Amino acid sequence: MIGKKLPDVTFKTRLRDDSLGGPNPYRWAETTTADYFAGKRVVLFSLPGAFTPTCSTYQLPEFEKLHPAFAERGIDEIYCVSVNDAFVMNAWGRQQGLEHVKLIPDGSGDFTRRMGMLVCKDDLGFGLRSWRYAAIVNDGVVEAWFEEPGISDNCATDPYGESAPQNILDKLAVPAAV
Ligand code: BEZ
Repeated sequence: MIGKKLPDVTFKTRLRDDSLGGPNPYRWAETTTADYFAGKRVVLFSLPGAFTPTCSTYQLPEFEKLHPAFAERGIDEIYCVSVNDAFVMNAWGRQQGLEHVKLIPDGSGDFTRRMGMLVCKDDLGFGLRSWRYAAIVNDGVVEAWFEEPGISDNCATDPYGESAPQNILDKLAVPAAV
């Protein structure tokens, strides 16, 4: 996976636009892979679903909390992608009080499929979702890859460790002081 260029896709996002007024001031916006990744060194992580327990209790809040440590190591953004639509991802971000991690809705699974990470979770009634992984991505190219072991459909366990933020941090050097 190291050296892979991220697939070019267009994500259907919902952008807040207060000029719209009313109780739900969001509009559709098409955001491409290049919009998110070009010219930046980022951490990308993916998980099976918004609001699910491990993702909501550990993975997403830990990335949010550790944002300053990632910034210190030269990471410009932290992105979380999930096969969920923009309404769900925005609601999850609000519920989590996110200030740093940005959520990317891959509702159709197009990005995840082309990353080779789409798995079936029909055992839980989830349909197609993402296997859990994380990557350091530099200008749209995978620099480091952290994939949970045992990628498979309808996996009875939900491994979480390799893609945990502390594991990634441990592999990122702090730049030497000048
Ligand atoms: C989780 O706890 O994050 C989880 C639960 C069920 C399915 C996938 C993930």
